[in-house]
Amino acid sequence: MDEQELRSRAWFGRKGKDGFIYRAWMKNQGIPDYEFQGKPVIGICNTWSELTPCNAHFRELAESVKRGILEAGGFPVEFPVMSLGETLMKPTAMLYRNLASMDVEESIRANPLDGVVLLCGCDKTTPSLVMGACSVNIPTIVVSGGPMLTGNHRGRQIGTSDVWRYHDDVRSGKIMEEELLTIEAAMCRSQGHCAVMGTASSMACMVESLGLSLPGNAAIPAADSRRKVLAQLSGLRIVRMVKEDLKLSDILTRQAFENAIMTNAAIGGSTNFVIHLLAIAGRIGVPLELKDFDPLSKNIPLIANLQPSGQYFMEDLFYAGGLPVVLKALDGILHRDAITVNGKTIGDNYSNAVGYNSNVITTVDAPFNTATGLAILGGNLCEQGAVIKPSAASAHLMQHTGKAVVFENIEDFKARIDTDELEVDENSVLVLKNVGPKGYPGMPEVGNMGIPKKLLEKGITDMVRISDGRMSGTGFGTVVLHVSPEAAAGGNFALIQTGDLITLDVPNRTLNVAISTEEFAERKRQYTPPEPVTNRGYVKLYIDHVQQAHMGADMDFLVGGSGSKVLRDSH
Ligand code: FES
Ligand code: MG
Repeated sequence: MDEQELRSRAWFGRKGKDGFIYRAWMKNQGIPDYEFQGKPVIGICNTWSELTPCNAHFRELAESVKRGILEAGGFPVEFPVMSLGETLMKPTAMLYRNLASMDVEESIRANPLDGVVLLCGCDKTTPSLVMGACSVNIPTIVVSGGPMLTGNHRGRQIGTSDVWRYHDDVRSGKIMEEELLTIEAAMCRSQGHCAVMGTASSMACMVESLGLSLPGNAAIPAADSRRKVLAQLSGLRIVRMVKEDLKLSDILTRQAFENAIMTNAAIGGSTNFVIHLLAIAGRIGVPLELKDFDPLSKNIPLIANLQPSGQYFMEDLFYAGGLPVVLKALDGILHRDAITVNGKTIGDNYSNAVGYNSNVITTVDAPFNTATGLAILGGNLCEQGAVIKPSAASAHLMQHTGKAVVFENIEDFKARIDTDELEVDENSVLVLKNVGPKGYPGMPEVGNMGIPKKLLEKGITDMVRISDGRMSGTGFGTVVLHVSPEAAAGGNFALIQTGDLITLDVPNRTLNVAISTEEFAERKRQYTPPEPVTNRGYVKLYIDHVQQAHMGADMDFLVGGSGSKVLRDSH
């Protein structure tokens, strides 16, 4: 691309009053004239925040990106966008994913940017930034923040998946509440996001397998100096991408999406991946449906031995050679011609990958688990589908019929789950309603609801659990998620009652309840949906416009893009 064609010329290349206004105020930062004379202007979209601990090291990371941009002759400008911290935000960071994506989209489009580097880390910061950028579609590269170093408590390696184990240990009396304080400190001992194959790491693998990051991006720990090298190289590369006019829509083809789905199955990635990938596809305009995930995932076994499906941590994945080794193990299955941000195909990128630890990354012929990382269910309990992660579930519950024990909402669940009166045994099916996108609102990660205390004390560690909510990517168990339509949208799921007989059949991909059509109709007549929690502000906008989980839970009016053109000036 010729420098006169740069998008930023419509600001900085102008004469008269407009050019004066666009340049003059920038100069208060001490920027010399020559910076405005045709250099590619590269935005660094930063989700740094002390309220997003996983991204708290991003100002340093941005400095490395800037070095690369300067080295390649670009003009770097760092800007903040709404940052979504998974652990602090109530009622759930997911409620704000679409809001943050709007911030990203409008910030990129409204400003004189020729290319953008997205700094992503904690779970929702990756999809929100990629979604927003897709709706503008200028050259874009992703730099992930990297996982934390593996935690260590009393000689035992730990990571976020242990939160659920320790929580149950406290409830069953195996450990004292006080011990949690030392475990907290031992687990989060370095900068970075969750150290297991949770949602943040799954998102980092997603961007790498989509071709949106340089090879190796997914696994380098945040604290490893090689993370900064990757950031600098990404800064260097984005300037060239602008010159080549290599845009998101050139990379995000149907093939790229299929590569990401197959990769996620092989690594036992987060179930949240499904929702975020559907939303990203919607923004860039690639047709993708929930039912597409199952045939693509079905024959792909677990080949990365990482928690929560397996044993190891992200740090181990890095030492074993990183995601390129996993991709290479999928050679012959992946679309190797899919183009990536470095201008090469994904196949070229992984062709020289070398694996260093077969306990961590294996081959498709000798997998760690023949169960795949993802299955999509259908049936009269989930008319538009539901999701389960077989690789992190119990084999003996893959075909199971049991009586429903229904909780109408999260408050009902918390009030009754540990009581002696609760009629429940290990064959029961726990059902939690009204934790979907509209119902909670925001679809929180409560789907891996705790096992009733009296069953924990008997040594029961897993049961079939079903909800219209999500589960943390670090969670595990025989947990059916994302039931669609959700209870609050009037799905059959809203009508399930305690005592109904539910059958989960993962091999046949079904989830049904033994209720006749007539009985469903009768229950529907008597049903009154719960009142929405608010009638104003962003949350009202969200409840009114959020689409169901099987469509990616984006807002209906955000699907698609508006390009990068802005025709009118500000003064
Ligand atoms: Fe941020 Fe897990 S809490 S990645
Ligand atoms: Mg999470």
